[in-house]
Amino acid sequence: MSSKFPDHFMWGGAVAANQVEGAYQTDGKGLSTSDLQPQGIFGAITPRVDGDSGIKDVAIDFYHRYPQDIALFAEMGFKCLRISIAWTRIFPQGDEEAPNEAGLAFYDRMFDEMAKYGIQPLVTLSHYEMPYGLVKQYGGWGNRKTIGFFEHYARTVFERYKHKVQHWLTFNEINMSLHAPFTGVGLAEDSSKSEIYQAIHHQLVASARAVKACHEIVPGGKIGNMLLGGILYPLSCKPEDVLETQRQNRDWLFFGDVQARGGYPAYMRRYFRENGIQVEITAEDQQALRETIDFISFSYYMSGCVTTDEAQNNTARTNILNMVPNPHLASSEWGWQIDPVGLRYLLNVLYDRYQKPLFIVENGLGAKDRVEADGSINDDYRINYLNDHLVQVAEAIDDGVEVMGYTSWGPIDLVSASKAEMSKRYGFIYVDRDDAGNGSLERRRKKSFYWYRDVIQSNGNSLKNKA
Ligand code: BG6
Repeated sequence: MSSKFPDHFMWGGAVAANQVEGAYQTDGKGLSTSDLQPQGIFGAITPRVDGDSGIKDVAIDFYHRYPQDIALFAEMGFKCLRISIAWTRIFPQGDEEAPNEAGLAFYDRMFDEMAKYGIQPLVTLSHYEMPYGLVKQYGGWGNRKTIGFFEHYARTVFERYKHKVQHWLTFNEINMSLHAPFTGVGLAEDSSKSEIYQAIHHQLVASARAVKACHEIVPGGKIGNMLLGGILYPLSCKPEDVLETQRQNRDWLFFGDVQARGGYPAYMRRYFRENGIQVEITAEDQQALRETIDFISFSYYMSGCVTTDEAQNNTARTNILNMVPNPHLASSEWGWQIDPVGLRYLLNVLYDRYQKPLFIVENGLGAKDRVEADGSINDDYRINYLNDHLVQVAEAIDDGVEVMGYTSWGPIDLVSASKAEMSKRYGFIYVDRDDAGNGSLERRRKKSFYWYRDVIQSNGNSLKNKA
């Protein structure tokens, strides 16, 4: 396939602190909300019991092994690595005035390591975690004060890394709070819709304040949002199904609308009114929201369908987020429906809507891998998945969509977010660790490692358009 990818396309991979670092109490780190979710983001919130809080406590020990891992990413030719900063390494409780120097120094060393290989960091300020101290003392994002704590954290890291990090993201999958309120905004799972939207509002204001701070502090810095790109299709062409699909897509597009357009979209007024949702939005908040992001980033794993037909709505559901399954698509071992064309469609939808550059910061196949007797791992299923999605990215670029880069999810095996499993593997690099935490943590190159290296080296020329 002749390359449609621009010359400076940012090829790479994406990880999150709580899924790779481990070292959950090292060098002064405080407890995060993620540390209380040993079973993953949909699991129970569990008080800490030392030595019994799940595999995230060590994860893949990236905290100590990042130099070797970054060397492997460099071997694949990465131009970019998306990481997140654990807020609790910088402000262990969240409300301190002075940051924790040991935490700041850790990320300094990590960015220096990337710089050795010319790998640009893309840094998420908050990826599915916040200081548990803020939840306990203040009620998480339900409290307006958390906006100020977050802004202080954001300004601290912008100042510290302004010459090392050009590209930033505010909140990972900010729309996830609608489905996992503790993970997203530090609220109890049974919170009311008004409470959840109020907390979301505070987070949106904090995101805009971080955008402003980034523009003030980081010379030439660019900052984006991060959406869970859960695009929905109508199950039929019945007008009611089409309308309901538009409504449900707006549930998540709402976040992008506020962050990219600088204010609440008109359709939310009716939604709030009809659902009895009260949100306090001050004139100062509205002013803050006017500071918009430079680019849109999103994750893409699957699409889903919507129907108004109750009989079909009740069929066994696959995917996450209660999406109705699409009869035309196959599913992964975890029931996530595979839809490469949906990625082209989504890129076009987002570009038509926002006319801002787009960055695909997560995409990949979670699958079980088998290590053969000779030590090889032949993950052709992963190669096929990624190839087919990247072919559609190329098509979208040809459609005229401005795509800045692509960081596949989990370039090295890591702990899964939804259920804290190791057996759900995304990596080009295998990590010897199982769901019970057994294993040597040794790293091993999979077949996909060499495949991705060729894709990057050829700037996408080696991709196979099977159509
Ligand atoms: C996204 C998250 O939802 O999907 C990641 O931003 C997560 O943190 C990824 O790991 C894949 O989900 P899972 O549950 O397979 O790890």
